[in-house]
Amino acid sequence: MKIAILTSGGDCQGMNACILSAYQTAKTKKIEIFKVIGGFDGLIDNKIYPLNEIDIIGRENLGGTILKSARSKRFYEDKYVKKSAKNLKNLGIEHLIILGGNGSFKASLELQNYGISCICLPATIDNDLNMDRTLGFDTALNNIVNAIENISDCTKSFGYGAIVEIMGRHCSDLTDISSVCLQTKLVVKAKEDLQIVANKIKTKKPQNFLILLMENTVDLDYCKEFLETNTKYIYKPHRLGYIQRGGRPSAFDRWYGSELGRLSVEFMSKNKSNFALGYVEGKIVVLDIQKSLK
Ligand code: F6P
Repeated sequence: MKIAILTSGGDCQGMNACILSAYQTAKTKKIEIFKVIGGFDGLIDNKIYPLNEIDIIGRENLGGTILKSARSKRFYEDKYVKKSAKNLKNLGIEHLIILGGNGSFKASLELQNYGISCICLPATIDNDLNMDRTLGFDTALNNIVNAIENISDCTKSFGYGAIVEIMGRHCSDLTDISSVCLQTKLVVKAKEDLQIVANKIKTKKPQNFLILLMENTVDLDYCKEFLETNTKYIYKPHRLGYIQRGGRPSAFDRWYGSELGRLSVEFMSKNKSNFALGYVEGKIVVLDIQKSLK
């Protein structure tokens, strides 16, 4: 049996642990494992090579993805899906492990139409799939909390407010859970929230007025302007950006990534595929790909 593995969409912490575990499991089962470089673009461009020990050993607990990633626009076109399946089949590969989020899961359904068996692994900091936890979410959350505590040290010293924009694409989980961890009720997830936040600040100036802003909702500079006009305090805006997505994975994400890698190869070795795996109620379970999309 020959299988290939790729990472697609936003990289996340734990991807490399997953790749190592898939590699090691494949080795013990005498399965040939291939790497695809650069996500679905790499499939289209035939960047498919044997995965070697040297690629991964010692890099398994680093952030990012050793396989590189991409947000492939071409893969939306059927001719490129067909080409990708052909490239895999030319190498005798009919099984593909896909690490990614919503877009990558959908892409796997297209590939299945051309006879490629897929297992989708939930790798995104956004937690925007229908399961309890996606890979990377735990580390991103820790990164956010640590970064904001650093920011607050400085803003508190001057009596400034801090407005911090948090990732999540269209999912508010990172923002919501951070607000609990950092004990702030000043959260902006829609334009209407700004007046509510301003009123809270005006009626009771908090010790540390930390405002969490969910990305893709209200413009960060507009938030600053609005709050300065409506509350008469000074605000320091921060966009955390890739600080959230990078860095070494937490213990949970190392474990989660490793288990996803091991289980996916074990399932494939028994010819079981075309589903997703995900963490639900304390364990990793098999999920229908369509139903795991949010
Ligand atoms: O999906 C992960 C994510 O980090 C989102 O939270 C964010 O909206 C997006 O990717 C950013 O994308 P890019 O890395 O292309 O700027």
